[in-house]
Amino acid sequence: MPNHPPQNLTVATTGASGSLFLKHFLLAVERDSRVHTVNFIASDSALRVMAEELGLRGRSNLVGQILGRKSSRKIQQQANADIAANIASGSYPADAMVVIPCSMGTLARIANGIASQLIERAADVCLKEKRPLVLCVRETPLNKIHIRNMYRAADAGATVYPLIPAFYFRPASLDAVVREFAYRVLAHIGLPQPDAYRWKG
Ligand SMILES: Cc1cc2nc3c(=O)[nH]c(=O)nc-3n(C[C@H](O)[C@H](O)[C@H](O)COP(=O)(O)O)c2cc1C
Repeated sequence: MPNHPPQNLTVATTGASGSLFLKHFLLAVERDSRVHTVNFIASDSALRVMAEELGLRGRSNLVGQILGRKSSRKIQQQANADIAANIASGSYPADAMVVIPCSMGTLARIANGIASQLIERAADVCLKEKRPLVLCVRETPLNKIHIRNMYRAADAGATVYPLIPAFYFRPASLDAVVREFAYRVLAHIGLPQPDAYRWKG
């Protein structure tokens, strides 16, 4: 973990259900002045799932479509096929990476070092450079292959952070459920959010 809040984030999204979690995560990092740069990658399957869950149309201005804005100040999209992108190298100063949501396919490739596309390569770089890597996995029920791969990823240094939201703060809406989850992930990588719910005991 860097000794400053992460300024340079890599955010990847893959073809698991839960695109709304990505949307709230990106809205929060877009707002957060501590974050200067976000490199964002979507797998092809993520585009398919986002079309279902967020009603996205086509690939143009993808980040703007997810955020519901014209464009983003700091979120730069990278092509998943571009294994020569900045974040493919350990020399690039990425502070942390979050995969949200993380499919079982992407989990399997990361856990087994299969780095043929940019998402898996950037994750591989995080693990080799001992940088925080958070995998917001989603599938249910889990088979033994999924469970083994979660163990392998955790054993290699990743945080397995399943898309399992909390309810004890009595959320008033689906957006509140999802936003608090995104805030918990941000706090985990050193970016606590001022309006996050805090348990007072
Ligand atoms: C609507 C929809 C929902 C899906 N939900 C999940 C899911 O929750 N978890 C999962 O592991 N795969 C899910 N899949 C399957 C993945 O998209 C598929 O395995 C894909 O190959 C993953 O590719 P990627 O890891 O490159 O994104 C879903 C597919 C669709 C079309």
